[in-house]
This record gives sequence, C-alpha cells and structure tokens, in this order.
Amino acid sequence: MSKKILITWWLWYLWSHTVLEFIKKDCDIVIVDNLSNSSIDVLEKLESIGWKKIKFYKCDIQDLSWIENIFQENNFDGVVHFAWLKAVGESCTEPYQYYDNNIYWSTILFRIMDKYHVQKIVFSSSATVYDSLKNDIPFHEDWYLKTINPYGTTKLVLEHILEDLASHRWWDVFCLRYFNPIWAHPSRLLWESPKDVPNNLLPFIFRVVVWEQNIVKVFGDTYPTPDGTGVRDYIHVMDLAEAHLLAYENIEKESFQICNIWTGKGTSVIEMIQMVSDVIWKKIPYEVVDKRSWDVAFSIADVTKVKKILWRECKRTIKQAIEDTWNFIQETNKSPISSFKRATDLIQILDKN
Ligand code: WQD
Repeated sequence: MSKKILITWWLWYLWSHTVLEFIKKDCDIVIVDNLSNSSIDVLEKLESIGWKKIKFYKCDIQDLSWIENIFQENNFDGVVHFAWLKAVGESCTEPYQYYDNNIYWSTILFRIMDKYHVQKIVFSSSATVYDSLKNDIPFHEDWYLKTINPYGTTKLVLEHILEDLASHRWWDVFCLRYFNPIWAHPSRLLWESPKDVPNNLLPFIFRVVVWEQNIVKVFGDTYPTPDGTGVRDYIHVMDLAEAHLLAYENIEKESFQICNIWTGKGTSVIEMIQMVSDVIWKKIPYEVVDKRSWDVAFSIADVTKVKKILWRECKRTIKQAIEDTWNFIQETNKSPISSFKRATDLIQILDKN
C-alpha cells in the first residue's frame, strides 16, 4: 500500500517539485494551502505532470479544527514540512508574523501529528542558521549556529524543537538546511508563481529579461569576495526536491539527522548575471546600490555529510536551472501554457467552505 504524505504548507514552486518526486515513488500526496501566495493552477500542472490524483485542502494554517480533521480523514505515514514564510528581508520588518506562522503554528501541527501517531518529518531548515561571521566557508553542519534575522531564528528554533521530539517522543526527524534554490522544472510546466514580487536574485534578473523591470539592482560590491558581490550556493530545485525524497527514504536510520543541501560551489551576483546573459545571448543591465542589512558575504555548503548520508552528488548545474527557466519563459510567452482543465477531474479539492 503506497505511503500517504502530508505536504505543508504551500502550493509553491519548490514544494510542487518535491511533490512530483514523491508521486514518482507512488506516494499518495495531501497538500494544505490557503492560496494566499500561490495559485491553484500549480495543482493542475502537478496533476498533469505527475498523472496522479492529489488531495488538496484549502484552509488556513490557524484553522485547527480543519487541520485535525485532515488527520482524522487521512492515515499519514509522515509529513514534509516547509513551514510557512520564507523571505529573509520580510522577516526583518514583520518578525511577529514569522514567529507566529513558522514557530507557533508549526508546534500546533506537531502536537496534532503526535496525537495521531504521525512521527516522521522532513523539515526544510535553512543556511541562515549558520554564524556567517564566525564560521569559515564552506559551512559544516557542526559549525557555529547564530541567526541574524527572524527567518533564520524561526528555522533554528524549529530544529531544536524537532530534536526534542526525536529524543523524547521517539520521532524520526530529518532537517535539510537549504542554501539557495533556483528553478524551473525541465517540463517547463512549473515555475515560481508567487502572487507577490519574488525576493530572490534569479527571478529579479529574469524580470529584467522579460522587461518587467528595467535594471538589476546589485546589493553592494564591497564584500570581501572575488568581485565584491555576494557569493551563494545555488542549487537546482530538482536536486533539492530529490533530496527530500532521499531524506524521507533514509529517515529511520537515526532519530535526528541534519544535513546541508548542497552543491559546495559559490557563485557571485555578477557571475550569475553573466551566466544568464550567456544563456539568453543578451547583455543584462545592472547597477550597484546599497547593501541589504541582512546580507552576508558568503554562504556555501560543506557537502561531506550530505554525500555520506544521501550518498549522491547534485546532478544539475546552475546553467541548467537558468536554461530551464529561460525555456519556460519562452514557452509561456510563445503560447500560454494550455490550461490543465482535464486534470481538474483528477483533483479532489476539499474546501471546508
Ligand atoms: C542572493 C544574493 C543578494 C536580489 C536565500 C533565501 C532564503 C534562504 C537563504 C533558504 C545576495 C543578491 C539579490 C537582487 C542582488 N534560503 N541580490 N540583487 O538573501 O541568500 O536568501 O537564501 O532558507 O530563503 O531567500 O537570497 O536571492 O535574496 O540573494 O544583488 O535583486 O543576490 O545581495 O548576495 P539570500 P537572494
């Protein structure tokens, strides 16, 4: 009998790629989202690519009765928990939103999981838990942990809570410390579709490419890096999605596991702009502006542990992610992706209203 996995929260691009990996392993997927910053058409695309029914509950994270109802209606094997809010900059201006949504409501979910004896969880943590000033690069899982923004703080607090549950409630926990995900799905059917402006470098560069923005703003060029701009460890979303499946498949090996996700290679802002320019055969205008208060110079993963635990390298390159994105954009601009209406009969949308 296939395993039933609850994916919380969001029909967002990254999580949708992860859903496809679990569907490939014949898992039954249940997704919860309130569609505040995602769209139902991602579900239709997922159904079309994955060719499998996905049970979707449209409800708010705070709607406890409905969350409990989901556990009563479904016999879950485990949970892949993405928490709720993910923008570093936004967390600095709206810290209490992050503490409430990422910490408080996650503990409510954990309480309900425990009540229904669902005690396996893959949790999306973050590279922002590392003390980037005290640590040499690349960051190793056992390096100093110190957060400098509320988003990172919520991730570190949840890691500690889950470690407690592993120790005292016999849970099996696997925390994945994300560095910088970049996308799109090679099928060209999935791309980031937030209703708000995206917060990350690559979507901003492509907004200039498709004329939604006239210039890329480079946040500072006086960092102690080779070209003075911020260096990050960018990972293709498909490698990230596969890592979730591998983590779930290895979750019972130890009660509490943490590893970086992962390439071990750093790319600067200027290098990223140049890589997109090389793929689209067009110069991309940029201007250097002030640094962002929460930015660090370097963020690069040590990959020793992830290679040992998940025993594989990243299969895809940054260039492939850029090409997948560019193909997606050309595909979409050339002929709007036909709606996946036929998939709707496969989708069972349980909306309590
Ligand atoms: C990358 C680099 C910017 C936009 C991300 C995720 C966060 C977490 C950590 C998982 C930086 C520069 C950006 C722009 C720029 N991941 N930049 N102009 O800040 O590393 O955070 O990784 O938990 O969820 O958001 O990502 O893409 O915002 O910035 O110069 O318009 O690009 O200064 O050096 P960041 P980012």
